[in-house]
Amino acid sequence: MLYEVVEGGLTLDYAFQKVKRRWRGLRSFKVFYDASFDAVRHYYFLKLAASRLFGSTGTKAVAKAWFIYRADYLLFNKEMATRYKKRLLKRAMANPDEAAEWLESLKDDVVHYLSVKYSYHPKIVSTLLSHFPPEEVEKLLEAGNHTWIWLRINTLRADVDKALRLLEAEAEVEPHPKIPYAVLLKSAKRPVQYLEAVRRFVAVPQDLASIYAVLSLRPEPGDRIIDLAAAPGMKTSLIAQLAEGRAKIVAVDLSARRVARMRHLLKNLGAGDFVEVVRADSRVLKTRKFDKALLDAPCTSSGAFTKEPAVKIYPRVEEAPKYSAVQKALLKNALALAEEVVYAVCSILPQEGEEVAASAGAEAEKPHPDLAPSYTPGVGGRTFPHIHRSEAFFISRLRKR
Ligand SMILES: C[S@@+](CC[C@H](N)C(=O)[O-])C[C@H]1O[C@@H](n2cnc3c(N)ncnc32)[C@H](O)[C@@H]1O
Repeated sequence: MLYEVVEGGLTLDYAFQKVKRRWRGLRSFKVFYDASFDAVRHYYFLKLAASRLFGSTGTKAVAKAWFIYRADYLLFNKEMATRYKKRLLKRAMANPDEAAEWLESLKDDVVHYLSVKYSYHPKIVSTLLSHFPPEEVEKLLEAGNHTWIWLRINTLRADVDKALRLLEAEAEVEPHPKIPYAVLLKSAKRPVQYLEAVRRFVAVPQDLASIYAVLSLRPEPGDRIIDLAAAPGMKTSLIAQLAEGRAKIVAVDLSARRVARMRHLLKNLGAGDFVEVVRADSRVLKTRKFDKALLDAPCTSSGAFTKEPAVKIYPRVEEAPKYSAVQKALLKNALALAEEVVYAVCSILPQEGEEVAASAGAEAEKPHPDLAPSYTPGVGGRTFPHIHRSEAFFISRLRKR
């Protein structure tokens, strides 16, 4: 898995599918997946450790370093882990307890130090350091090494109390202090997708940042709303929920495969009757006028590191100009189609956030009081793992001047 992610540039899930096909006899997929997730998440630190311990930074050496530093955290057969660790350490060229000193020796170069300590690509670290002091960046990077699973109660399927009762039979959840239909999954008897409430579409895994994007749109009964990059329809279904099924909603996406998935999902979530699904290119779509538009634009996903650790190794920064051009074209058309537009991207890069909002020639604002200020104040807001326990999004509300 590590090899497929590091050398092949695959996301963790693609790597998993590939490896799974090849190793048909493999049992304990969950342990294997969790171990790989953890190794990718801690890759840069493990790479340093591999070079000190085994004189190599190849993925095999990194996997060995994972065993030495991280295997204990996972539900492994502890005895087997200890035995294997001992064997590995016999061949090690250094003492693994010296890790703190190895890190200390990097401190003169703050980008390199933080990049290795928390295992993020240096470009992520330097981007954040150009907007925040190092202490705050450190908190953000540390928080980004956690995964928070938020569940949104789908009130199109059940009321909040009933859904909570169903959830609490199998899981411990923490309600969001301000959003009554959002809960944080603290622990569960089974993986989230197998929880009864999730299987019945009464609760849906949805990151808090995505919930804030939809809250920023303030959907209300009677609104005419267009979602211009809608598939697979998670935010569209929340729009339908917040408008109590009484808004006229059009959901557009360019990808035929994703549009098919969206139709299916919206139906399962109980939103199928409230949403007209259209396959089109939202850069050039001409249609009737809407009160509100949501543009959850395609992007590098460089803000998704809490859920997709491969992003920490390959933040695809070099693709930002390409995405930025698409985002600007989409936003321009969104402003032609609706009075008010909420623009959202799961990205830490200003090229995909602040710069897109500022270049639209529109009035842009921070759309929700809970959001942190955008890098350039006044053009939008941001969510961050250390503040919101969420993915890192840029969100802005724009109106034509
Ligand atoms: C970030 S995803 C949207 C996720 C979705 N809003 C949700 O919450 O489930 C971006 C989407 O934009 C779509 N897309 C990319 N270019 C597009 C275009 N020119 N017109 C319409 N959709 C586009 C992609 O197919 C993808 O589904």
